[in-house]
Amino acid sequence: MSKIKTIFVCQNCGAESPKWIGKCISCNQWNTYVEEIVPTGNKVVSVPANATFNRPVTLDEIASTHLERIHIGMAEFDRVLGGGLVPGSLVLIGGEPGIGKSTLVLQLALTLKERKILYASGEESLQQIKLRAQRLKLASGGCRFLCETSLELLLSALEEEKPDIFIIDSIQTISTDLIESSPGSVAQVRECTSAILRFAKKNHVAVILIGHINKEGNLAGPKVLEHIVDTVIQFEGDSHHQFRILRSTKNRFGSTSELGIFEMRQNGLTEIANPSDHLISRGNEGISGTAIAATIEGIRPFLIEIQALVSSAAYGVPQRSSTGFDLRRLNMLLAVLEKRAGFKLISKDVFLNVAGGLKINDPATDLAILVSVLSSNLDMPVPHQTCFAGEAGLTGEIRAVNRMEQRITEAARLGFTRIFIPKFNKGIETGTFPIEIIRVTTVTEVFRKLFQ
Ligand code: TYD
Ligand code: MG
Repeated sequence: MSKIKTIFVCQNCGAESPKWIGKCISCNQWNTYVEEIVPTGNKVVSVPANATFNRPVTLDEIASTHLERIHIGMAEFDRVLGGGLVPGSLVLIGGEPGIGKSTLVLQLALTLKERKILYASGEESLQQIKLRAQRLKLASGGCRFLCETSLELLLSALEEEKPDIFIIDSIQTISTDLIESSPGSVAQVRECTSAILRFAKKNHVAVILIGHINKEGNLAGPKVLEHIVDTVIQFEGDSHHQFRILRSTKNRFGSTSELGIFEMRQNGLTEIANPSDHLISRGNEGISGTAIAATIEGIRPFLIEIQALVSSAAYGVPQRSSTGFDLRRLNMLLAVLEKRAGFKLISKDVFLNVAGGLKINDPATDLAILVSVLSSNLDMPVPHQTCFAGEAGLTGEIRAVNRMEQRITEAARLGFTRIFIPKFNKGIETGTFPIEIIRVTTVTEVFRKLFQ
């Protein structure tokens, strides 16, 4: 009999070693090596004579089943899911502590009255859930609550209840007796999720899992968790601000470019159907350092206020700080202003803030950021009812951005009278929009048209 050969494999990066080592030499992670059996190469795989196997089919041969989605009744959430919850699917919601994940799912559980819902909490007691529901001023629907952390007991409760929707807050608190390690460990999270997945697929239960995130802002637990589930949703925002964004990063049943916006109020989360109305404060007009960007997050256009403060640096090294916008990109834009437009910002402190605690990734916000910095530096306000959309290039040119019609239409809808757009955006008929369109090619041109 041949000897069984084993090898040690890093669970983080997949590097192999003949012996156990504490620190992976490839990815520098500690204690990630696990022993695995090496399959012997001389094994001959033969198909038994009477074996039946799945015959490959063409798409036409597959019977199409109509997936009836469960509409949650919160339009913003439904949209992010791609039109509702799909029975038999797993949705993972991740977010920082205190952002409002438990509040969101409790609101969902209590507003959706016509479905059978089971809410399992391993984080809060039943009394705490009741207190929260009272705070939300929601009547108790048919949703049933359970405080449980054992996977086996949860599965038997599920068998008995047979709910349409099953909510777990949070997956990191659930553990199975089959595995020695503590709740929240990689092995536990993976095993529990897989068991729940098997149950969900077999019984057509839609499952919503709440997941913790780690220091870096990624979902805690193994990356494989994101592979197991069908939809991954991030609930983000600044817990000191009222706005929260629901963004899907993976969705097997819909687009990942959808975005849901909520506001955290005294009595829970309120959907924001018209974000622009909330993100621009009309009172700030006439004050230097603010500019309105016509941005698109996901597939929705909205207008958002950018605020900049430029002041002489009190200490030797000037400070650059940015909230809601990538600091490296801000530094790049400041370098463009310095080098291409001749503004001396090297000895100035620059602070930048995106209104409402939102994080903006759209490059079309560049133009509004440049204008807000210039406006604050010169102490000259941006003219009334003017907004901006355009990306800045390293040579100081204003580059074309996508979906310009949507941005212009949104600006016009909100009563803006002028919008600055890149000259390179082709196909925009100036006369067709009820708003004055100003085309610009360089930063210097923008400066001249606004402040001279
Ligand atoms: P929570 O849902 O407990 O966050 P998570 O489950 O993501 O950790 O939300 C907690 C925060 O939400 C808390 O700091 C207070 C705030 N909040 C409100 O402002 N209004 C409300 O009605 C509720 C229920 C919570
Ligand atoms: Mg919670």
